[in-house]
Amino acid sequence: MSDIAQHLAVSGKIDFEDLDFETARKVGLTEKEVETLLYFADIESQTVHYFLEVAKLKVARDPELLTFLTMWNYEEYFHSYAITHFLRACGVDLESATQRAQTVRAGARFKAKFEDFMQGMIARTVPKSFVALWMFWGSLQECLTTQAYEELATTTKNPVLAELCRRIAKQERRHFAYYFGQAKKKLEGQVFAQRMTRAIAKAFYAPVGGGVKTDEEGARLVAQLFPGDRIFEVMGYIERKMALLPGMEGLDCCTRWAAKVQPMLPPETRAASIPALAA
Ligand SMILES: [Fe+2]
Ligand SMILES: [Fe+2]
Repeated sequence: MSDIAQHLAVSGKIDFEDLDFETARKVGLTEKEVETLLYFADIESQTVHYFLEVAKLKVARDPELLTFLTMWNYEEYFHSYAITHFLRACGVDLESATQRAQTVRAGARFKAKFEDFMQGMIARTVPKSFVALWMFWGSLQECLTTQAYEELATTTKNPVLAELCRRIAKQERRHFAYYFGQAKKKLEGQVFAQRMTRAIAKAFYAPVGGGVKTDEEGARLVAQLFPGDRIFEVMGYIERKMALLPGMEGLDCCTRWAAKVQPMLPPETRAASIPALAA
């Protein structure tokens, strides 16, 4: 079965209606969990805007890619929807997923618009390399997203939240697998694409959400989820996976990012030591 056929066979809206919301409410959520979930819901809800931007590009008109993007967008939408539903069931007072998505979008920063513009430029100038970069970027972000949901699933004392996170993480892992497989194909033997991807990752890597959240908000959230030295363990894990892609050995963009943001973090989530980085 082809890659895309495998994805089509298992794609779908996340199941959450069967979760025990009564227990979820009784056990409750910590303030940090609420904050983390709101952040996740906000980022997930922006997928459609990203989708609209990339769908404008000629390079995205590949039928297989469009099929994947459609499934991916649908699944991400329901991640935000399910989280919002869960938060409300736990008594958190918030607007609907759609209203929230609108509010977040209205706050989209200049950075998001600039990124859209840059993306268009690269896609028009070097379309083949752009697709490689795009698939690489997608796998990098989906890998972190998977780690984030898995972390929340293991650290929370709320068994219902743990189950919801495990279900979402399962879909995130599939998203990662698709992007990763594509990145491998597109980077193979393409020295220019490999160099460009590496250079852009080194210069611009930041966790997903940069367009609608400030650098500090993003950093604080990631460090809250992976406090202390844990952030470097997770970043190292992601980099080791990404290093298996052609031309990516020794990649350290995530560790660099985590080291760079340390001064922005509240003291209690800062790492005790920063790994040594090559020049
Ligand atoms: Fe998601
Ligand atoms: Fe995803």
